Amino acid sequence: MTVPSVPSAAPAPVVIDHDTDPVQSDIPPMDPLALAAQWLPGDGEDRMLMTVSTVGLDGNPDARTTMLSDFDGRRFAFHTDANSQKAAELATNPAVALTILWPGFTRQLVVQGTAERSPRTESDIAYHRRSPYLQQLAWQNTPEFARLPLPDRRAKWEEFLTAHGGPDAPAFAAPSTWAGFSVTPHRLLFWVSNPAAASRRLAYTRSPDRWEMTVLPG
Ligand SMILES: Cc1cc2nc3c(=O)[nH]c(=O)nc-3n(C[C@H](O)[C@H](O)[C@H](O)COP(=O)(O)O)c2cc1C
Repeated sequence: MTVPSVPSAAPAPVVIDHDTDPVQSDIPPMDPLALAAQWLPGDGEDRMLMTVSTVGLDGNPDARTTMLSDFDGRRFAFHTDANSQKAAELATNPAVALTILWPGFTRQLVVQGTAERSPRTESDIAYHRRSPYLQQLAWQNTPEFARLPLPDRRAKWEEFLTAHGGPDAPAFAAPSTWAGFSVTPHRLLFWVSNPAAASRRLAYTRSPDRWEMTVLPG
């Protein structure tokens, strides 16, 4: 039996010139959204992983890793199950923080903002960009499936593959539980390492008509 492994999503470490990174500049950029677009991978490149922090239903912090599906120049999108804990938490309180760490510990971006559900057309596009393994996972990653004994889980996984023509078959439709969230930021915090001159952060906070920028120690 073929046992698919979880595909790697994280990009390879970026090689940065610490001294010329815009965050180290004496004249830092004024537009954090343009800077985020410069840092993040483009279309066709591996997606970044991030920690999505929410306010739990009991008021305590909650957090987990997801893939950053997309950054369209204004909003950060991730996708998940509509019945998940994070979806319930965001329905109650849309406040969210996203922490994106670059491989090699060269850069970190922390985004604080407000999440809202993405339109179905957008989440369908994101679904079809996912690997066959992750598309299948969106169908079978349910509480009922997780509670089954391992041999049953293997059998049901294999049954699904067979029913859909195997792992290389064309993509199937997204389940109705597939949900996208897009996060509109009100604060972005860019961190860069610099072994020769200390790490440094630029904090951008949205005011009514522009972004306020503050330089902070790393
Ligand atoms: C590397 C990695 C990537 C993941 N990507 C996603 C993702 O894109 N979407 C998602 O819903 N869960 C993803 N997960 C699983 C989540 O971390 C989490 O376990 C799941 O979404 C349930 O979270 P919740 O109960 O807090 O809602 C990923 C986990 C790992 C370790």
